[in-house]
Amino acid sequence: MQDKAKKLMHISTYGCQMNEHDSEIMRALLEESGYQWTDNIHEADLVVINTCSVREHAEKRVLGLLGNLKHQKEKKPGLIIALGGCMAQNPEIQEFIRKKAPYVDVVFGTRNYHKLPALIKEAEETMSNVFEPTCEDEEIPGILPVHYASRVKAYVTIIYGCNNFCTYCIVPYTRGREKSRPPKEIYEEVVRLADQGFLEVMLLGQNVNSYGKDLEEDINFAKLLKMLDRIPGLARIRYTTSHPRDFTDELIDTIADSEKVCEHFHLPLQAGSNNILKKMNRGYTREDYFKLTEKIRQRVPGASITTDIIVGFPGETDEDFLETLDLVRRVRFDAAYTFIYSPRYGTPAAKMKDDISQEAKKERLKELNQVQNQITLEINQAYEGKTFEILVEGRSKTNSDRWSGRTRTNKIVVFDGEEDLEGKLVDVEIECARTWTLFGFLKNEQKKRNL
Ligand code: SAH
Ligand code: SF4
Ligand code: F3S
Repeated sequence: MQDKAKKLMHISTYGCQMNEHDSEIMRALLEESGYQWTDNIHEADLVVINTCSVREHAEKRVLGLLGNLKHQKEKKPGLIIALGGCMAQNPEIQEFIRKKAPYVDVVFGTRNYHKLPALIKEAEETMSNVFEPTCEDEEIPGILPVHYASRVKAYVTIIYGCNNFCTYCIVPYTRGREKSRPPKEIYEEVVRLADQGFLEVMLLGQNVNSYGKDLEEDINFAKLLKMLDRIPGLARIRYTTSHPRDFTDELIDTIADSEKVCEHFHLPLQAGSNNILKKMNRGYTREDYFKLTEKIRQRVPGASITTDIIVGFPGETDEDFLETLDLVRRVRFDAAYTFIYSPRYGTPAAKMKDDISQEAKKERLKELNQVQNQITLEINQAYEGKTFEILVEGRSKTNSDRWSGRTRTNKIVVFDGEEDLEGKLVDVEIECARTWTLFGFLKNEQKKRNL
């Protein structure tokens, strides 16, 4: 029900889980300051755009949206537009907004999004634009209110920023330096989530295995996982993203011995050629990467391993690309998120000589996807006839008569069920496996687990 006295707000979110979670916080803060959510951007009195810069495509979508909002504001002059997230940190975008898009009222940063209600108020009171794109030097706020998008799983930020400076990547420039949240605060937040009935938490950071390096306490990511693994009521702990270079034996052992940390490893490979890995400043070789995955398979049987791969990095030869294909075939990933290299403003790779045509890059992407999809299908087919514990997330998006959930290995499973199963742990036998989804049937009554 809409409360007519309240102003309506809408937040458009692009990019990674970090942004999704920041938007959940902004929504809660804006609700506290009197706004009411609307799904319909056209009827909103306040539109917040939480942007992503990781590839050109993401930026183009935001620029398109800004064009539409310009027209919306012509019809409704009281409309407030606020732009934050990674694009807001780019000096070129800031210049563009000042000169070409002055209808954007507030520009805020990736480290001061919790001040958004105050910045909006300032813009309204002064009737002028407010520019505060801060990605550094902000005190990390304590536990903030969150409007959780799901009733089943919750995001928890554990570390902000990134210090890695992979040469293609914009993130260290948009999110600032690494800053870990105190372990006690994370622990308290997760206890509270478990008490509220969330069965799964996803720990967030651009490089979660750097966690704790900047803190004085005797803590690292493995130790944090050990602490959280003991929290009663919680069933599953996930994390993203972990860097292959920092994936220590201590961490593998901790995950192997833990009860709640899921048997899913997302380890962005980026490229399978040592020459390209070096140019990317990734800090590992193809041999290191392969050894790491072998170790994981030995210590955590049945684990799934997924990855990110970039094709067409400047100077990537046919031979380099074949090495990527070769490693993909050897490691046998459960899934890969694959991208064509996109030059990013201000990064070292953007200045490197790039003489591969866009056509050739598209061909490489197609070939890589073909190889990977076949492997994904084969791995998924091995799930057929077996039973897995599924955490039910809600109705299936493609067929609302059915339920959808995930295995601990992060495979999406769709199945029938009469009663309300959202947020339940159930056993499902897999009948038919496709590349992106497994289909199965409910094995027994709801599992009674003593969590
Ligand atoms: N911190 C995470 C996520 C970074 S962004 C990590 O280190 O893995 C998510 C993915 O986008 C990256 O893993 C990479 O594969 C891809 N990516 C980043 N910059 C890119 C660029 N300039 N062009 C194409 N893909 C890029
Ligand atoms: Fe970007 Fe590399 Fe940091 Fe990931 S680890 S966010 S790819 S610089
Ligand atoms: Fe995009 Fe920024 Fe996330 S660039 S991927 S929103 S860290």
